[in-house]
Amino acid sequence: MKIFIVGLGIIGASYAEGLHQNGHEIYAYNRSERPLREAIESGFVQKDNDIHALSKADLVILALYPKHNIEFVKNHLNLFRTGQLVTDVSGTKVWMMNELEQLLPINVRYISHHPMAGKETSGFDSRDPKIFRNANFLIVSSKRSAKKDEEVLRLIANNLKFGKITVVGRETHDELIAFTSQLTHVLAVALMQSDHFKETKEATGDSFRDLTRIAKINEVMWSELFLENKEALVGKINDFIKELQHIKGVILDEDKETLMKYLKEAKEKRKAFDVH
Ligand SMILES: NC(=O)c1ccc[n+]([C@@H]2O[C@H](COP(=O)([O-])OP(=O)(O)OC[C@H]3O[C@@H](n4cnc5c(N)ncnc54)[C@H](OP(=O)(O)O)[C@@H]3O)[C@@H](O)[C@H]2O)c1
Repeated sequence: MKIFIVGLGIIGASYAEGLHQNGHEIYAYNRSERPLREAIESGFVQKDNDIHALSKADLVILALYPKHNIEFVKNHLNLFRTGQLVTDVSGTKVWMMNELEQLLPINVRYISHHPMAGKETSGFDSRDPKIFRNANFLIVSSKRSAKKDEEVLRLIANNLKFGKITVVGRETHDELIAFTSQLTHVLAVALMQSDHFKETKEATGDSFRDLTRIAKINEVMWSELFLENKEALVGKINDFIKELQHIKGVILDEDKETLMKYLKEAKEKRKAFDVH
């Protein structure tokens, strides 16, 4: 396929490299010039790369932050062509998908997806198609997509060696992501911010390091994603506060039996994750 990727950040560039390795012809746009130049020199973006290649692409992958995806589409509407399929990799869906459904020319198809993979670093230099291996892949269909478009995304997911592919609605996506991805980032940064010791570093073991790894956060991207999904995320924060209050109460009451039951229940839930 001829694929045009908008944005060579960690996700866009990792897609570009991985999809080129699978025989696709890759063209790309990036705001700054260096990633594009290096991608062409490395051979995973075509030598004759040009913004007008978007018009010839079978598939356009929007890989910028949600607001920048919208801005890009608004500024390049004239380049989209009848019959093309557009997708995006954004971390939030409801707001952005509603906008894109309105914006994209009528004969352009659109289906969204979310690669559940990344690193605690970002940008072109962090690219690595191996991050997708066995990762979850969520497909979010739109009012502008057909069943055959899902098949195109399944091909992309298989090329990049993703693991489980699941189809969800946009509202469900944003609720799920508020919990599995956004709340976990909120907790990691809140944990770092609640550190008031001088000697914390000397007193940390694996548990603190594991739980706070993702506090090395891309603040530009995550603040946008948190605010775009404010309602769902605040709901998950409230649920979490309830759990914290519950366990705090049990500890204050020295109710060992309830405490052990609570810990055991959590352990069993976590162990169920490891069963394939
Ligand atoms: N990272 C993850 O863990 C992850 C996982 C799944 C999905 N996603 C989604 O993937 C998308 C891209 O995230 P990423 O992590 O790949 O980002 P990233 O590595 O931080 O790269 C950001 C990209 O956006 C461009 N950009 C930044 N500000 C811009 C502006 N004002 N105008 C135009 N372009 C601008 C950057 O261009 P320059 O090179 O010029 O700075 C770069 O191409 C997001 O929608 C995110 O939700 C991310």
